[in-house]
Amino acid sequence: MRLVVLKDYDEMSHWAANYIAARIKAYGPVAAKPFVLGLPTGSSPLGTYRQLIGLYQKGEVSFAKVVTFNMDEYLGLAADHPQSYHYFMWDNLFSHIDIDKDRVHILNGDVQDPHAECAAYEAAIQAAGGIELFLGGMGEDGHIAFNEPGSSLYSRTRIKTLTTDTKTANARFFGGDPAGVPSRALTVGVGTIMDAREVLILVSGYKKARALRAAVEEGINHMWTLSCLQMHPRAVIICDEAATDELRVGTVRYFKDIEGIR
Ligand code: GLP
Repeated sequence: MRLVVLKDYDEMSHWAANYIAARIKAYGPVAAKPFVLGLPTGSSPLGTYRQLIGLYQKGEVSFAKVVTFNMDEYLGLAADHPQSYHYFMWDNLFSHIDIDKDRVHILNGDVQDPHAECAAYEAAIQAAGGIELFLGGMGEDGHIAFNEPGSSLYSRTRIKTLTTDTKTANARFFGGDPAGVPSRALTVGVGTIMDAREVLILVSGYKKARALRAAVEEGINHMWTLSCLQMHPRAVIICDEAATDELRVGTVRYFKDIEGIR
């Protein structure tokens, strides 16, 4: 695992966007072999999305031959609901870049049969050749996508009941009331994320520090699902200084040393 410690949110976003753009360019995607990119929602990736839009506008990256799969969606919210992850993605990224609508995949939270929706999503990822790079964030309790504490580290795309902690953290998008946050979501599993050829995680702010310590310094544990990355052959966590507040001084010094960061 790489842990890249940068000064603040803006540096983290800049680094991540340039890394993603470089990976897409190096892959050289064509229609028959597109670059398959996994994407998250939340506050963590917003700066990265803004930077990616900037790189696209400068002609430095194109998404015309990119296929995307989002991590998750609230169960019961239609795509046009302002708090749906569909809405978030079009509002904050897809409407501003040259991506083909048919290449965008987001779980449909407004379906009759959510189990069938989840199975079809896994099949679609397989049919696309698997995910090349999965970008993600992390919840304050160490969750990845909506894989709440206690999720199987082999889990696949399925329905998850959200914890009160997660509903409280996400209440800011629902008028501040945790009761207004949907109780369940559809989410890719930990196993689905582990199948990606590379995983890139954004972690910003002191509120994430306790979970970052657990994921990086403690053992692999289903109570902190991001810790699964310790088993991934190509995982990168990009964080800011504030997120390292609970890590040992020696841990931060070690990772900065091997990244050549002072
Ligand atoms: C939600 C999402 C996660 C995201 C997490 C953190 O629970 N399902 O994918 O990583 O929130 O969000 P934020 O980046 O807003 O802190």
